[in-house]
Amino acid sequence: MNTHVTQDTPEASPGAVGFAMQGDIAVLTIDNPPVNAGSHAVRRGITDGIAAAREAGATGAVLMGAGRCFVAGSDLREFGKPLAWPELPDVIATIEDAPFPVVAALHGVALGGGLELSLGCDYRIAAPDTRLGLPEVSLGFIPGAGGTQRMPRLTGRASAIDLICRAARIPATEALTLGLVDGLAEGDLLGAALAFLREGPRPKRLARTLPPPPEDEAAIDAAARSALKRGKGRPNIAEAIRLVRASDGDAEAMLAEERAVFQRLRLSDDAFALRYLFFAERKAGSVDGLDMTGARRVSATGVIGGGTMGQGIVRALLAAGLSVVLIERDEAALATALSAIEASLGAQVAKGRLSASGAEQRRAALSGAVDYGALSGCELVIEAVFEEMSVKQDVLARLEAALPAEAIIATNTSYLDIDEMVQGLSHPERVLGLHFFSPADVMKLLEVVRAAATSDAVLASGLKLAGKLGKQPVVARVGEGFIGNRIYAAYRRRAELLVLDGAAPEEVDAAATGFGFAMGPFAVSDMSGLDIAWAMRKRQAATRDPQARYVTIPDRLCEAGRLGRKTGKGWYAYGSGTAEPDPEVAALIDAARAEAGVSPQSFDAGTIQRQLLAAIVNEAACLLDEGIAQRASDVDVALTNGYGFPRWRGGPLYWAATEGRAGLEADLKALAAAIGHGFRAGPVAEVLAALDTGREV
Ligand code: COA
Repeated sequence: MNTHVTQDTPEASPGAVGFAMQGDIAVLTIDNPPVNAGSHAVRRGITDGIAAAREAGATGAVLMGAGRCFVAGSDLREFGKPLAWPELPDVIATIEDAPFPVVAALHGVALGGGLELSLGCDYRIAAPDTRLGLPEVSLGFIPGAGGTQRMPRLTGRASAIDLICRAARIPATEALTLGLVDGLAEGDLLGAALAFLREGPRPKRLARTLPPPPEDEAAIDAAARSALKRGKGRPNIAEAIRLVRASDGDAEAMLAEERAVFQRLRLSDDAFALRYLFFAERKAGSVDGLDMTGARRVSATGVIGGGTMGQGIVRALLAAGLSVVLIERDEAALATALSAIEASLGAQVAKGRLSASGAEQRRAALSGAVDYGALSGCELVIEAVFEEMSVKQDVLARLEAALPAEAIIATNTSYLDIDEMVQGLSHPERVLGLHFFSPADVMKLLEVVRAAATSDAVLASGLKLAGKLGKQPVVARVGEGFIGNRIYAAYRRRAELLVLDGAAPEEVDAAATGFGFAMGPFAVSDMSGLDIAWAMRKRQAATRDPQARYVTIPDRLCEAGRLGRKTGKGWYAYGSGTAEPDPEVAALIDAARAEAGVSPQSFDAGTIQRQLLAAIVNEAACLLDEGIAQRASDVDVALTNGYGFPRWRGGPLYWAATEGRAGLEADLKALAAAIGHGFRAGPVAEVLAALDTGREV
């Protein structure tokens, strides 16, 4: 029978760790749903459980998790405050001091503090489905309970540097090969752990006292170099490398050193920002009051349009194990699209990213047709045809006629009004937007657009599908450019006005990357091509407010055949292979300034950065005001997952909320002056006041 250890502190929730004796072996079961996060109550429960096992004269103990996993990590909600005793190293010390061997029995996930806890046990056995890892660096800090010291004594330092700095989550089979676990257990995990102890002898075996495996220094150097390069200069990466490198030294001293670094970094700006994003990302996939039980099961899908975007969507659906019918307008276009998908499957196998049998499964799940009749078995179809209202309306009407009544129809439009698109359909409630980002099988972000008529069940199905595809969903209402593209347009407009007013494109790009953006706005334009926005501007020319400031430079670039990288030149010249400022562009900019009557000023990098940020923040406040986004944190999730905004800054609204208000007000004033006629001020102060950053400002 399971009896729970008595908790004697008011904070400890009773039942966080169950205790039972199975013969002379104690079984401690961590039970803190949903993911057994290592909260104070859990830490306390384990310490008490080990004490109870000692009292009961146990000859061994098994530590395991109830429900879906072992332990998903320390409870991140506790990490912004002082940690209550016992901290995780205290718990591990109790386990190490126990006179009997302790086996950690892992299933589901053993991550972060969860894996460290198991490394503090004498042995680890794992169910084959377990994923193990130390993802702390992705949260801005480092493992702080021995991860950087015990892991390398089992795996070697080169592997530990690689695993820790990549925040890797590896399968149990790989963990076995690396020496992180001692055995795999199919079926009854507890039974296997008990048998493991009973078939002993299993002497105490502390990972921190194991001799470091002999290693080639060159391999350690190589792992450190590539980790530093990937780590983009974030301070926690360098610290993790330093600590792992020194893990062959005095274990006591190194554990203390690791803890000190951890304590400092868990309260760093990066860590607060990344924790905020962690919870923001989980919230973004939910809609308050939406009944998710209405979500439909989707396994048979269709995609209309096999262009670049359509192909990416097909690859994403296949990768998630769904079947796909791809529809193209004629046999030739279909053959081109299918052979491009085939080529990418081949390339993935060649690079070792996909097994030959995995590729075979995907091939078998894909079919192509030119007739909508082939879609009759589909539960969801995504259209990715040309971005033109009449074309999309025609496709939707044909889909409505071809699909069974309960099938869901999704449009991948990035700008168009979905409410207008569904006019004329008999069942507009079955339509939603699924706005993928290119390449659709790589980019995490998926805007799930809830049109006026979209039913709750269809919205819930879209969110569930996002999860299945491994995407980060963000829910948007209908509005030009939804969340991401609308904010990006305001950002790009501010960037172009900065150039008109005197900054060089390369100065703006350098300021953006200096802030932490993956790329500057002009380098991005060159990469994606200038012609799509040009076509849109031409369409909008007739309705443009003639008094609004208009930057003619991108039009002039397009007229000169400078459409970006694909034509070898755009905002930059690419003759040498890399982006170079081009005197021809400088001359064209000078002419545009003269034409607009602008006398150029100079801008320092800080001003450029703050103006770009002000444009983003103001536009975000406008769209929150209009209800296009549900919550401010969703904007941060969209920008960090789809637009190269630096994660370690938490997102633009988090950044703004943690900035001094006076500076921000001055930036917004300068923004209003630069935009001039037609500028709309969003309710920035209100939005920021309502944002829970999780820290005192
Ligand atoms: N601390 C506190 N809460 C956590 C947590 C942690 N370490 N890990 C997950 N949770 C919470 C989530 O916030 C979510 O709460 P909610 O239901 O109130 O939104 C809930 O547990 C479920 O997590 P979610 O991520 O939505 O479920 P999932 O099935 O998609 O993924 C995991 C499960 C464990 C893979 C994922 O949560 C995860 O990666 N967790 C963090 C791992 C980590 O970084 N650990 C290191 C910390 S030291």
